[in-house]
Amino acid sequence: MRFMVEFYSATATWQEVACISDKVIGVLFGKVNLDLPRFGRIRTFLTDSHVYLKLLLGHFGKIPKRMKIMRLAISDDKNIRANSPRADGEVTFLVVDEAFRGRGIGRQLMDRFVGYARSKNAKKITVNTTDPVCNLEFYKQYGFRRYSAFRDGLSSYALKSEVKILILELNLY
Ligand SMILES: CC(C)(COP(=O)(O)OP(=O)(O)OC[C@H]1O[C@@H](n2cnc3c(N)ncnc32)[C@H](O)[C@@H]1OP(=O)(O)O)[C@@H](O)C(=O)NCCC(=O)NCCS
Repeated sequence: MRFMVEFYSATATWQEVACISDKVIGVLFGKVNLDLPRFGRIRTFLTDSHVYLKLLLGHFGKIPKRMKIMRLAISDDKNIRANSPRADGEVTFLVVDEAFRGRGIGRQLMDRFVGYARSKNAKKITVNTTDPVCNLEFYKQYGFRRYSAFRDGLSSYALKSEVKILILELNLY
């Protein structure tokens, strides 16, 4: 989990946490491409490589088969890029503490990111989610539509069952 959080936060241009007192109860990381006008792809490549290197060096703990995990993650990432529509931004990570779900926190985090993306003239954002692991229904309810679906190599390997990656898109105009 630490690996995923660091991976998705590394290239985010929007990071927001929802808190009650000192307790973090929700997180959204997002990326608006217009925030990365120059050398955006190189920056993403370098930050991703840095996180992978830390994974290999054991920075996230003694995770078994790290090389295999890294290969699967890179291959999934390539498939995500090949199967995504042209978009101006992306929700890279969204989670709400289980005890606080169903109270509108996820929607508020999303509203604030969408507002920010619109303020940057973004016309479309995407999210990639997994089925059946993640809450696809939340995104559908929000207005995202399915763009493509394909096998999730890393989750299928980790969970020992077939998992799909779904690419969803949301038009902002
Ligand atoms: C998905 C998630 C972020 C939603 O957060 P949340 O705070 O519970 O969502 P909200 O309370 O803001 O719900 C917003 C709307 O989506 C609907 N919704 C949320 N989860 C739903 C579900 N599992 N099934 C059906 N509808 C759902 C709500 O009913 C609500 O509808 P409404 O606006 O008509 O009342 C949260 O469930 C979560 O963290 N899940 C685990 C991690 C995950 O799946 N992340 C996404 C993949 S990266």
